[in-house]
Amino acid sequence: MLEISKIHTFYGDSHILFGVSLDVKKQEVVALLGRNGVGKTTTLRSIMGLTPPKEGKITLTGNDITNEKIFKRAKIGIGYVPEDRGLFPGLTVHENLILAADGADTAGDYENALRFFPELKRYLNNRAGRLSGGEQQMLAVGRALIGKKHLLILDEPLQGLAPKIVERLTQAIEEIKKETAVLMVEQNTNLALDIADRVYIMRDGRIVFSGMPNEVRENKDIQAYLVVA
Ligand SMILES: Nc1ncnc2c1ncn2[C@@H]1O[C@H](COP(=O)(O)OP(=O)(O)OP(=O)(O)O)[C@@H](O)[C@H]1O
Ligand SMILES: [Mg+2]
Repeated sequence: MLEISKIHTFYGDSHILFGVSLDVKKQEVVALLGRNGVGKTTTLRSIMGLTPPKEGKITLTGNDITNEKIFKRAKIGIGYVPEDRGLFPGLTVHENLILAADGADTAGDYENALRFFPELKRYLNNRAGRLSGGEQQMLAVGRALIGKKHLLILDEPLQGLAPKIVERLTQAIEEIKKETAVLMVEQNTNLALDIADRVYIMRDGRIVFSGMPNEVRENKDIQAYLVVA
């Protein structure tokens, strides 16, 4: 499905990713973990083309997308929710969805967003900026799913949310993964290990562990790479 092979990514002259490889399979939730500043967001941005890698290869469903434009990646099936959610706070929920629907060339069809988060329906005419943090995150995730998406990328989607809404989003991710694979970064290790089918851990721009959530739970040496939750 998604395959990243030995990518090297830079911000200007600073070398941030050193040969990162990872993959996400169909119907999987993969968690990318690691302490602050190790390169998790940069990895997600590399996949989306926001910070294209200088070396290495990225394929989606077998197609080389390493040098694709950002909008093309969205069109061929990657949804991306950045840490700040990237909503238009002054626009209504409806307008936020319509804009994404046009970008994905699905002519105003945003049923997909509302299918996973029907509670958004009653806020269609409210400004996005007036919704609660949890509702905004639902809108951001729902919006990212508009069009036919193979992969959903989430950067710390549960950060700062109340337990009840965390549970709601976790449940939605369980549903979403049946049709769209998920790659997520999450600071709360325990939560991430509960949600994920597979885990990668980064340190200093490199993948230092790849395996199952249980292996992380049972191994203190591996946990040392992580923020203690
Ligand atoms: N726009 C930028 N310009 C220059 N350096 C950057 C930029 N964004 C991030 N970096 C640096 O790249 C490194 C990796 O950052 P990145 O945001 O990928 O880490 P992260 O694992 O997502 O961390 P966090 O847990 O804090 O979100 C850090 O050293 C950071 O200072
Ligand atoms: Mg980050």
